[in-house]
Order: sequence, then C-alpha cells, then structure tokens
Amino acid sequence: MSTKTLQKVSEYEKSNVNSRLRCFKRHISSQKQSFAEELSHSLSHESKFISPKFFYDKTGSELFEKICDLPEYYLTKTEIEILNHLKTELPHFLHDDFRLVELGSGSSTKTRHILDVLHETQSKTEYFPIDISDILESSSQELLSLYPRLHITGIIDTYENGLEFLKEYDSKNNLIVFLGSSFGNFSPKDGLKFLKKINSIMKDSDLFLIGLDLIKEKSILEKAYDDSEGITRQFNLNMLSRINTELDGNFDLANFAHVARYNENEKRIEMYLQSLTNQTVQIPKAKLSITLQKDELIHTENSYKFSLNDIEDMMADTSFEIKRIWFDSNKHYAMVLASKI
Ligand SMILES: C[S@@+](CC[C@H](N)C(=O)[O-])C[C@H]1O[C@@H](n2cnc3c(N)ncnc32)[C@H](O)[C@@H]1O
Repeated sequence: MSTKTLQKVSEYEKSNVNSRLRCFKRHISSQKQSFAEELSHSLSHESKFISPKFFYDKTGSELFEKICDLPEYYLTKTEIEILNHLKTELPHFLHDDFRLVELGSGSSTKTRHILDVLHETQSKTEYFPIDISDILESSSQELLSLYPRLHITGIIDTYENGLEFLKEYDSKNNLIVFLGSSFGNFSPKDGLKFLKKINSIMKDSDLFLIGLDLIKEKSILEKAYDDSEGITRQFNLNMLSRINTELDGNFDLANFAHVARYNENEKRIEMYLQSLTNQTVQIPKAKLSITLQKDELIHTENSYKFSLNDIEDMMADTSFEIKRIWFDSNKHYAMVLASKI
C-alpha cells in the first residue's frame, strides 16, 4: 500500500477476518450521518427521491439475491450466459498478472466465473471487492473456501470512495469489473462522470469489464422490475423500513405502493414508492417532517437501458477503447471489455 492509501485507512474500521481476508469499513457513525444528510436533502425536494444505494441494508441485499433468482429477472441469467462464454475468451486478454477489482460485488456469485479464470493460472489471486453493503464480508468468506490461493481486501463503502483506495495502491494490473447492470442507476451525466473517474484511476495496462442492459420490449423490462411474487415490491418498500429502523422514521408501509414503469423517451425503468393517502411522516434523525399527497411519488431508482451506439459513444467520450463486446443469445444484454485510450 502506498503512503496515500495508508492515510485513507484511518477513516475506516479494519477487520482482519483471517490471514487471507481483511475488510475496511467506513466508521458506522459517518455512514449513518451521510444517510440522514442525503435524505434531508432528497426528501425535502419538490420531486422527492431516495438514492438507490440505500436499498442495500442486510434485508435489502438478501432481497436482491431473491430477485436474481426470479424467472422475470432476465438480467442475472443473461449475464451468467455471457460470463460462461467469456471464460474461454478472457484469458486471451490477460497477458500478465491481474488483480480482480469489483464494484458493487454483492454476493460475488457471478464473480466466480472470473475468479475461476484467474485462480487457475495464478499462484496467488487477489480480489478487491467494493460494496456499500455488509454482505461483502460474508460473500468474501464463502469465496475463501472455494479458492485456496485467494486473498481478499474488501472495502465496505461507496464505489467512489473504494476507487480512491485503489488510486496509487501499487503497480499490479487491475481488471476492474462492474456487473449486474448497476451502472444503469447513474443518470447519463453522472454515468459519464463515473466512467471518467474509473478511467482516471486506471493504469495503461488495466482492463475494465462492464455489464450493460440493452433496450428491449417494454413488457419484458417492466416484468423484470415488477415480478409476480412481489419480491421487487418488498425490495422497494424495504427502503422505508430501513429509514424507520436506522433514523427512527414512522413510515407506515401499508400506505405505499410499488410502481415500476419503462420511460421510452428516457430509455430507463423508473421505480417509485407511491403514497396511497395524504400523509405526514417524521424522520427525527434526519430532522425531517415530510408531507405526501395521495398518489405522490418518491423516486427510488432509475435503471437505464442502452443501444449499441449509446455504448460505443459513451466509451469513446470517456477515453475508453473497446476491446470486445459480448452479447447473450437474445441480445438482451452486453458485456464490454475496454482499456484506457
Ligand atoms: C444490482 S446489485 C448487483 C450485485 C452483483 N454485482 C450482481 O451483479 O448480482 C448492486 C450492488 O452494488 C452495491 N451498491 C449499490 N450502490 C452502491 C454504491 N453507490 N457504492 C457501492 N456499492 C453500491 C449494492 O450493495 C449491491 O450489492
């Protein structure tokens, strides 16, 4: 670790779970404070919103895993199909020793396809997951038993803060992966900014692999975000339970409906919590009292969908050279491998 990285470490609680796994987690008080501060801004707007990064407390992360198994949620299945194929082609791009860095690693289940490739040829494989959710620690522990030569340094924090950790970390090549269409949560403007940020911390020899969901029929898209078992509904409503638990809020979940719709002009799925009645809600720890009218919407997520042209333009605009694009058999999803120009 460089001196700069060591300075950053003081902002984190470090746990050395064992000799092959260490985790850095931002101090809990500063996490709670940023949740309260962001809400006090985003819920006092005329158009109320809550950032999707707050979906992922313990229950939220568990619900997301259930979503991945739903028949309607084609995203996980298509990405796995591509990753299976990619396993045979990826080694052609990895001419040297690479560390695997993952943004939003979650359960690290899909990651295993890439770890299989690295672990087969390396005497020591390094994995550097970054995730805002505590799920990172248990997922990492599971990996240790599957990969005996694996060493993990996990950062439990936002993508941006995790990437700061990586800046000037050492001279080893990084393969940075961003799976699960999580990039789709960024607005086009913030997405470009984020890709530039990734590009700026990459060395010339580093590689970036990103999974992006493609534009497709509205009915397929809307079912994926509003499943028949109501798991996505629970996932969306859990945001309010989390506010109640962590910030002493008094949301009555029965007063809200889950709404998911595809906005064709904006090329995005929009997810909302809709107030079913006129109501006032208190969130003491965010110093908030919010009034909601019947049918008023709280915007909780955008999930942007892309055309091939969008992807090519976006990568070129952020100084990436596309090395290869893979698609699933239905062309529902794309995975892009790129390097710095
Ligand atoms: C859509 S899930 C994808 C999980 C996994 N990569 C997959 O493909 O199944 C998004 C993951 O990113 C994490 N996450 C969401 N927003 C984040 C942020 N702003 N910073 C860091 N992690 C974030 C969540 O905790 C979650 O594990």
